[in-house]
Parts: sequence; structure tokens; C-alpha cells
Amino acid sequence: MRKMLIAGNWKMNFTPSNAVGFVNSIKSNIDTAKRDVVLCVPYVALQPVKDALKGTNIQVGAQNVHYMDDGAYTGEISPAMLNEMKVPYVIIGHSERREKFGESDTTVNLRALRALKHGLSPIICVGESQKQRLANRTEDVLRKQVAFALDEVKDERAEKVVIAYEPIWAIGTGMTATTKQAEDACAFIRILLIERFGAPTAEKIRILYGGSVTPTNAAELFSQPNIDGGLVGGASTAPTFDQVVKAGLCCE
Ligand code: PGA
Repeated sequence: MRKMLIAGNWKMNFTPSNAVGFVNSIKSNIDTAKRDVVLCVPYVALQPVKDALKGTNIQVGAQNVHYMDDGAYTGEISPAMLNEMKVPYVIIGHSERREKFGESDTTVNLRALRALKHGLSPIICVGESQKQRLANRTEDVLRKQVAFALDEVKDERAEKVVIAYEPIWAIGTGMTATTKQAEDACAFIRILLIERFGAPTAEKIRILYGGSVTPTNAAELFSQPNIDGGLVGGASTAPTFDQVVKAGLCCE
């Protein structure tokens, strides 16, 4: 049985003090029973938000991580640094990083391998563009992205992996994928995971849907057999985030 995971992706929003003010205003409404809730916040807000969440079961995550342990990589943050801060999750390969910061399937793989080596759970983002969907290439794109991302991932570490299916055309656009589109893509990813790791392991890996998840559409999306929660952007920075989290109870 997979535990639901609701992950907020704050992107580049909230200064550290605003971040603390926000979590203090929502934390008592967030129900963490029988599900994992994680807020992926900007690096500079990790510690303040962690401190503000003390006494709750809400966890923090980062939004990227470098693929080396240390060295001459000005401006980067290593998995060892996140590990020492006891940050359990990190988003890797978000489409905004792929599109705007030159992230490639190869660097996504390197980051995922290094994050796993340091005990972090990588939330690996995959998903097709609108053009690719219209050209019926969604499955080809997912096959390639998933294969690259998981290259050389050891079987015993696979259960820590989280895959987030995020159709690019649905991110920040209000154009949520239909429940069927989302479930079909996540079911296909499950098949890829079964091919890669075998059924017993693949059945333990969580697959999230992301792209314009809201308090209104979350329950239906999260009720699908292969959707184990959500990667939530805009709606995770709203006072009603607790409503999205609540929707994550439907599939226990
Ligand atoms: P959105 O973003 O929920 O605002 O569409 C999702 C994401 O980018 O992870």
C-alpha cells in the first residue's frame, strides 16, 4: 500500500519571513494523518520553515540539488548539505528547470543518483509539452524521460524515488489534465517502473500528478489507482492548501 504524498512546490515565492508567516497561518489546518505532506521551499527558507513546522508532521523539501558532493560549483547546493539539514525530499528536473535552466535528461539522472546516495527522496518530474501530446508522443516522451532519470538507480534505493507526472501544458495554466489523461499517463509510468524494477518494487514507488491541482479537482485526481498524490504549485501557496491535502485521504 502506497502512502499518499502531497508535495507543495513554492517555486520562487515567499521571502523567509513571509514563508514562516504563511506556514504558521496554515499548519494547524493541515491534516497529516495517513499521508505525507512536504513543502518544497526556496533554499533560504528551508531552516526557518523547518523550525516553524516543529511539532507537526509536515516535512520540507528543496527544489533542486547539485550532482556533486562538493567543489568549485559556485551557487550550487549539494545533497550532502541537504542531508545534514535533514531535508528528506528534493524536486529534480522540474519542467521550468528543463526549459529555463538547461536541465537535461542526463543531469536529471546525475542529480537523482547523487540525491539517492545521500538518502534523499528525489521527486523526479516528467511530462510532455502540448505539441508532443497533440502529436501523440506522450508515451514516447515519458518512456525516454523515465528511462534516463532512473538509469543506474539501484533496486534497493528505488523505493525512495517519487515520480511526478507533470504535463507541461497544465503547469500554472489552469488547464488541468482530465482525470483520465492523468491516470492513463501515471498508469503508463507504472508499467515503465515494473519493466525497470519488477512489480513488487514498482508497486511501492509513488507517482504524483502535477499541473493546476486545486482544492476542487484534487479529490478526483487523487482517487485514481495510479495517482498517489500531487505536486502542487500555485495552490500550495494559498491559504486553502489544507483542502488539497485533505483530498489526499481518498485512497488509503
Ligand atoms: P501548478 O504548478 O500547480 O501551479 O500548475 C505545478 C508545478 O509546477 O509543480
